[in-house]
Formats: sequence, structure tokens, C-alpha cells
Amino acid sequence: MSIAIHQIHPVFAGEVTGIDLRQPPSKDEIAAIHDGMDRYAVLVFHDQRLTDDEQIAFSRHLGELELAVGGTLQKPEEKRLKLELADASNLDRDNNLFGRTDRNRMYALGNRLWHSDSSFRPIPAKYSLLSARVLPSAGGNTEFADMRAAYDSLDAAMKAEIEGLVCEHSLGHSRTQIGFADISEDERRMFGSARQLLVRTHPRTGRKSLFLSAHGGAIVGWEIPEARDLLRHLTEHATQRQFVYAHVWRANDLVIWDNRQTMHRVCRFDDTKEPRDMRRTTIAGDGPTIATPA
Ligand code: OGA
Ligand code: MN
Repeated sequence: MSIAIHQIHPVFAGEVTGIDLRQPPSKDEIAAIHDGMDRYAVLVFHDQRLTDDEQIAFSRHLGELELAVGGTLQKPEEKRLKLELADASNLDRDNNLFGRTDRNRMYALGNRLWHSDSSFRPIPAKYSLLSARVLPSAGGNTEFADMRAAYDSLDAAMKAEIEGLVCEHSLGHSRTQIGFADISEDERRMFGSARQLLVRTHPRTGRKSLFLSAHGGAIVGWEIPEARDLLRHLTEHATQRQFVYAHVWRANDLVIWDNRQTMHRVCRFDDTKEPRDMRRTTIAGDGPTIATPA
């Protein structure tokens, strides 16, 4: 069995075969995955029946983990999963579906906006690894958009206009956008905020990409309506169908995406009726996108 990757979308995304993620990976396999991430930005692995500890152990081979602390309403001691796992499910601590009006459900609806994970942290995330444990009978695809292809297709005047711009990202902004407004002062502090370059350059490939996210709500030095107009325009451009791969989940899929080069969102499903148990490990970024984080 040897690892191989074939592209599954016209501009990005690859399917990986020939690896069992429960076994310790070889150096060559790890190198092939990093190379594949650089090239395809999203990698799909089928038939990977992982326990939480196996997912965590495999993830650590790709870099240092970002702990799932701060990016949620739940305090660490209230979490369903270990600190190494971000809970992308619709389940409470007792594995029951969130009720229709549960604040945690309202908060989770923010994942239906296009975003890049942890763009609200001074060191935004590198990779996310999402494992599908239980899936609903319909809906709940995850869509990915290639921010390199989106950048490449901008005209020269727009590329010049956005070069060097710095955006303010916060969880408060993505939640305010969906009308989730009753956020306490404590929660706002826990949510945090950070400044990020709007155009970032991949450290290994040198490719530029648009660093957009639903968390981004302001541009340093710009009036808010003007900033939001530009960010909305760029987001609409970047999420046109030709840049989007829609992943239709199968049970035991693991999908890895590069948050530096893509945005993603979860699509609608009947989340008050059926469980969707998705668990995410996150590889920490190498550093801030700007010299002096906010
Ligand atoms: C995430 C996320 C999307 C999904 O875990 O970061 O956005 O499909 N999940 O659950
Ligand atoms: Mn996400």
C-alpha cells in the first residue's frame, strides 16, 4: 500500500488513498501529506474509523495542536470532548441534540458562514482535520473555496488596492452577522480578536491568497461601511461556484483543509432532528500574519 493523491475538483482538492491513519505514519507519508496540502489545499481520506485519541495522535504528526479553548461559548470544563478536539456537532454534553432555541445551537449556526478557522486568533490556524463520526440522512455538506484561485483571478487594479491591507477579525463579528447578539462581556473577552493581512503568501509555495473569513469585520484605517463593502465584494467573488468544492460526507471520512488557502462552510441540514457528530483537530499556525499582532 503506498500513498497516492488524485485531484477531485478542477482547481484544487485531492483524494488520498493508500494510508491507514491509525498506524504511525512514515516520514515519507507525512511529507506526501504536507506536499499534497500545499498543492490541493483540501485532502479527503475515506474509511478512516478513528477514535478521538487516534485522531489526536495522527494530527500531532502534522504539527503542534491548537487547543479548542476560547473559540466556543462553552468553558473548558463544560465541553463534550477533550481540549484537543473542537466540537463541530449539534450535540450537548450528554450527546442529546441541542434544542431549537439552545444558545449553543444558535452559536453553531455561525459555521454556515464562509470562514477560515481561528482567523480571530493572533496566530490563525494552519490545518483543520474534521472527522465524520455520525452523519444526518440528508444535507450537511461542507463546502470549500480556493482562496488562491480567487486571488489569481482578481484584476491588477484590485490586487494593487488590497495589497498590505490589514483586517480586524473577531468571533463577535461573525456572530453579530447572524443576529446572535446577546454576548456577555466575559464571552466577548473569551472570543478575542486579531489583526490579519488580507493578502497572505504561502510560506512554502509563495502563492498569494485572499485571507477572508466571516470573522473579519473591519479594515484598519477604513470606515466600517466601506470596509464591509470591500470584504463582501471579495467574499462573493471568492466563493463563486468555479472555486468551490462541495464535500458530500461518508461516515469515517477525514478531511484536512488549509485555513491559510481556503474558506469553508457547513450547509443546511435538519440539525434539530438528526445528529451530526463531527470532531475537529486543529494544527496551529506558524505565526501571526502581521508583524505586531493587535
Ligand atoms: C469546523 C467547521 C464545518 C462542518 O469544524 O471548523 O466549520 O461541516 N465545520 O461541520
Ligand atoms: Mn470551521
